[in-house]
Amino acid sequence: MGLLVGAAVMVTSSAQAATTLGASAAERSGRYFGTAVAASRLSDSAYTTILNREFNQVTPENEMKIDATEPQQGQFSYGNADRIVQHARSRNMQVRGHTLAWHSQQPGWMQNMSGSTLRNAMLNHVTQVATHFRGQIAWWDVVNEAFADGSSGARRDSNLQRTGNDWIEAAFRAADAADPNAQLCYNDYNIDNWNDAKTQAVYRMVQDFRSRGVPIDCVGLQSHFTGGSNYPSNYRTTLSSFAALGVDVHITELDIRNAPSDAYRNVTNDCLAVARCKGITVWGIRDSDSWRSGESPLLFNGSGQKKAAYDAVLAALNNGTTPTNPVTTPPPTGNPTTPPPSGNCTATITPGTVWGDRYNTSVTVSGASTWSVVVAITAPQKVSTTWSGSFSWDSSGNVMTVRSNGSNTFGFTTMMNGNSSARPQIRSCTAG
Ligand code: G3I
Repeated sequence: MGLLVGAAVMVTSSAQAATTLGASAAERSGRYFGTAVAASRLSDSAYTTILNREFNQVTPENEMKIDATEPQQGQFSYGNADRIVQHARSRNMQVRGHTLAWHSQQPGWMQNMSGSTLRNAMLNHVTQVATHFRGQIAWWDVVNEAFADGSSGARRDSNLQRTGNDWIEAAFRAADAADPNAQLCYNDYNIDNWNDAKTQAVYRMVQDFRSRGVPIDCVGLQSHFTGGSNYPSNYRTTLSSFAALGVDVHITELDIRNAPSDAYRNVTNDCLAVARCKGITVWGIRDSDSWRSGESPLLFNGSGQKKAAYDAVLAALNNGTTPTNPVTTPPPTGNPTTPPPSGNCTATITPGTVWGDRYNTSVTVSGASTWSVVVAITAPQKVSTTWSGSFSWDSSGNVMTVRSNGSNTFGFTTMMNGNSSARPQIRSCTAG
């Protein structure tokens, strides 16, 4: 269970509107905007161009599911998941792990198990997989879709449920032991409407877990909407009600039939209105990548062009602010012992949002239209997200070179990792 709680955000209202989803989410309100990624698509350059440009968070669509990671009992297979994690982390995109325990997509050997044999196999799976990815996963969907649809408010019947009602908390405790720094989430669909029995049942479980100290940090609302009509008008109430339990909320698998701009805009604004809504993940990039491609539910068409809903989301993100509990840390100051920057252009740092365990920085370059800027970060601080430049790192991971890619301003988020006073230093600005 990570300690990333009570994240507070202070917003720099003067920031220029960002031009990509991830950058605007990060820059304007310290959030992420992510997508599900399929390993098989990573060789498609049209796909990766959009992925790398637009998104700062990734969820493997199928590659971390139980059938993918433990196809034979005790034999673990991480190749495709590792490829996605590597792709994401080398570009400073955060990774959501999906999913450790689920009634669906179980390998054959698990489907045939029951009782304590299944319980132990499930717990071993959680432990092994969370250990393999330890330190690389920001949020785990520890348990997925464990409640029944309809009016019962009951748990979904499954082989896992039949091992005993405490299987969910047992999975959370195992995940916490294996990766204490990951944020641990319960993830489900049809928990969007605050009045639904399923929503209320999940709410009561989270409330119970919080009251008994079960390590749960967050709730994921998948939000697979079948159209504007079933985006519920009380969605924001649902988000804020879960948040009031002391957990973060995430919109984890967003797609909307025919991608109506209004519904996409409303979902985005609802997340932005709730301080503990940490970000939005769409369930695929282009309509042709979607699990329901016939409904054209995503933000890019099959040719990779931005749809109207994309513009609506981007505009909403750029308007987004969440000024709750501003952090009173003094503004970043330069280190007086650092030599002045060298080179033939000028790079100026503007301190940005400070929230929780991280802060944003933007840098504006003048005196050159194409340039490269070298920025040093003080370890153990680490850059976690970047936008509006082309970034590369030296072998220490503490010095980054940023090349212009059309904008004269770039930005990045830095994790403080225990050092809350150091701030990035410009080493040089070189035209050309
Ligand atoms: O890769 C194989 C291919 O080799 C084979 O020929 C083909 C024949 O069926 O199957 C392909 O695998 C499919 C896989 O998607 C990749 O396309 C599986 O059959 C199919 O079951 C799988 O569907 C996934 C589904 O979860 C079931 O796990 C979807 O891609 C994925 O988008 C969907 O995601 C779920 C979330 O995990 C949980 N919430 C709901 C969401 C939508 O159903």
